[in-house]
Amino acid sequence: MARRRIIAGNWKMNMTPSQAVALCAELKDLVVNDAVDVVYCVPAIDIVPVVEAVKGTNVHVGAENFYIEDKGAYTGEISAPMLKDAGVEYVIIGHSERREYFKEDDAFLNKKVKKALEAGITPILCCGESLEQREMGVTMDWIRFQIKSDLVGVTADQVKTIVIAYEPIWAIGTGKTATSDQAQEVCKGIRDCIAEMYDDATAAAVRIQYGGSMNAGNAKELLAKEDIDGGLIGGASLKAEFGSVVNA
Ligand code: 13P
Repeated sequence: MARRRIIAGNWKMNMTPSQAVALCAELKDLVVNDAVDVVYCVPAIDIVPVVEAVKGTNVHVGAENFYIEDKGAYTGEISAPMLKDAGVEYVIIGHSERREYFKEDDAFLNKKVKKALEAGITPILCCGESLEQREMGVTMDWIRFQIKSDLVGVTADQVKTIVIAYEPIWAIGTGKTATSDQAQEVCKGIRDCIAEMYDDATAAAVRIQYGGSMNAGNAKELLAKEDIDGGLIGGASLKAEFGSVVNA
């Protein structure tokens, strides 16, 4: 079974609502590609205007975060049902920036994965090693730990629908991309891990992205690899270049 490719932009904390609408207009014709799922993961305040701005296009909208309760006294937070009602189809979970700056641990991320699935939103579950871990030779041990902990209690049928993003921390925003062989090795390792945890059919269905300084120049080579089904793109998702990644 062929996996459908998915190219997602992670806007991070960029784009005011009016800038967001302008970016959607700029990218509209550049990101057209029927063979690829195109997703913009945007700041919470941009969700409503971006959903409106991409109506009638091939672009799907994702969120960058949410809290694990449906509603209640959690000042400042937004919930998965709120995202769903606003038109959000994907949500990033476990990005290294949230793990580091907001101290989100794997037990919490596991709750987020389950809550997103319960709300009918597709998790884009991120994992990735630090430079220190890579140099110590524990990359795959670490990533297997993250995947196993974040998917506790998640069924095979649910895992078939999710997206996993491999993002080596040392490649994020640094201009240093993992080589296509390095990226393929880990993405295959993630698929093997899913096969061990579930079965071959689940491993064959789950979509795995690479993220970390992916751009118009390196996307084609990365996306040619057997186990890399797409990309999660930061910096290059904020400009016209994103169209070249979608069409790579
Ligand atoms: P960059 O593409 O800016 O390196 O960011 C990658 C990333 O963190 C996407 O989630």
